[in-house]
Amino acid sequence: MNINDFINDRLKMLLESGIDSSVFEIKLLLAHILGIEPKNISPNMEITEHQAALLDDMLKERCNHRPIDKIIGKKGFYKYDFAVSDDVLSPRYDTEILVEKAIELLAPSQNANILELGVGSGCIILSVLADLPFVSGVGIDVSDAALAITDLNAENLKIEPERLNLLKASWFDEDIIEKLSDYAPFDMVVSNPPYIATSEIDKLDIEVKDFDPLIALDGGANGLKDYNRILQVSEKLLKPNGIIILEAGDGQQLRQIKQMAEGYKMQCLKILKDLNNIDRCIILKK
Ligand SMILES: C[S@@+](CC[C@H](N)C(=O)[O-])C[C@H]1O[C@@H](n2cnc3c(N)ncnc32)[C@H](O)[C@@H]1O
Repeated sequence: MNINDFINDRLKMLLESGIDSSVFEIKLLLAHILGIEPKNISPNMEITEHQAALLDDMLKERCNHRPIDKIIGKKGFYKYDFAVSDDVLSPRYDTEILVEKAIELLAPSQNANILELGVGSGCIILSVLADLPFVSGVGIDVSDAALAITDLNAENLKIEPERLNLLKASWFDEDIIEKLSDYAPFDMVVSNPPYIATSEIDKLDIEVKDFDPLIALDGGANGLKDYNRILQVSEKLLKPNGIIILEAGDGQQLRQIKQMAEGYKMQCLKILKDLNNIDRCIILKK
């Protein structure tokens, strides 16, 4: 079957489901099936019946608003490709600013030890470890399935196993300090915890609320239920002058986090904006 005929035939179905960038998305999915770059799909290309059937299965999922990265099982983030599944938050481009800043701050050191609270796909800690071979770290998550994805991504990025310890734990565990103290003290703590207010979750895009895990989104009544505990744990595990970089939803949340941090005598070094010019991260110093 000719690819252009296939695309023209399936466009209506996608457009009716509200998928706007349909041609581009069909090409992305086909490129994934063929194992080539989307730019290498030529209009005269022929696809087999089997390839068309695979593509149709994926398009059905897309019409149900399953995000492309969850359909193909990977997402590009920062400089690397990350495996993703239904068990992890799809890495967001807005989080790249946190990674870039962490790398900038750690780059001058000769060796550094970092802790990520809530690794999900591992996109934050693994980007840092992949760029800076002298950094090692620990990542925790409450989700076994998320830890398995981080582990897979660490293997794909060829991170030496001795540079990363992954632990199943919650920052609310009573013994969390004890559990992590074997690996402490840390030069830096990074975290992108859940920060959507529970009442706002229903209003999110279907692609987010139906396909990202609730545990990665739900930040309780005001979206801030995790930050105080994260600051408390970080304060205990960081070296003196250690750095904490936290992502949050907006400037209002960040101002409240800054106030919480003052309670731990931490200094706010900077608030960072994301690609959409929204206040997104806070950098704190112990
Ligand atoms: C917003 S996601 C961020 C994932 C990843 N770091 C990223 O930036 O894409 C938050 C992660 O924190 C984990 N999480 C939620 N509550 C937790 C808790 N109490 N202790 C440890 N991890 C938790 C979730 O399972 C999820 O993987």
